[in-house]
Amino acid sequence: MSKSRKRSSRTRGRAKRQPAEPAREVPAVEPEAPESQGSRRSFLGKLWIGIAGLAVVELVWIVVDFLRPRAAAQESDSNILVAGPVERFEPSSVTAFQEGRIYLSRLEDGGFLALSRSCTHLGCTVPWNDDESRFVCPCHASAYDEKGVVLNPPAPRPLDFYAVRIENGIVKVDLSKPLKRRSFNAAQVTYA
Ligand code: FES
Repeated sequence: MSKSRKRSSRTRGRAKRQPAEPAREVPAVEPEAPESQGSRRSFLGKLWIGIAGLAVVELVWIVVDFLRPRAAAQESDSNILVAGPVERFEPSSVTAFQEGRIYLSRLEDGGFLALSRSCTHLGCTVPWNDDESRFVCPCHASAYDEKGVVLNPPAPRPLDFYAVRIENGIVKVDLSKPLKRRSFNAAQVTYA
């Protein structure tokens, strides 16, 4: 081998060699302690339980909210007596309704008053006497006029009455609660 060949092979060997880089320090990844893994799992578990609990509460609220108005509507409907169209009742007339045990009195001026059948003395049922145009109690002879006002004691106060409303020409009576009164006034009468 000649001198020149030897020189070129040495040069090639030198070119391949790179200066060594200083070794970088790689931060060591320490394995997570089993305690911290456990606490993370426990936290996630609690979080999921909380979310699930909120979802259940919301679902219950939606169901209750959905049912409540319907239940209220059903209840109120069952307390409403649909008496009939306004023209069915002549002025100066009293009509008995078995349902709710009431009288629907249409006054001379066309107003409506729904009256309880119970005497305010001791609660006997009071019939309407068409000939005398008055209610006369068979127990102790109390008498009331077509507005339920006492004409003859011992009844201490007028007959109880019920709220009346007229919707689209139909007379309706709210039987949910009898209204007590000490005297008659025009606000107790409903007009079409
Ligand atoms: S119960 Fe009606 S007058 Fe006594």
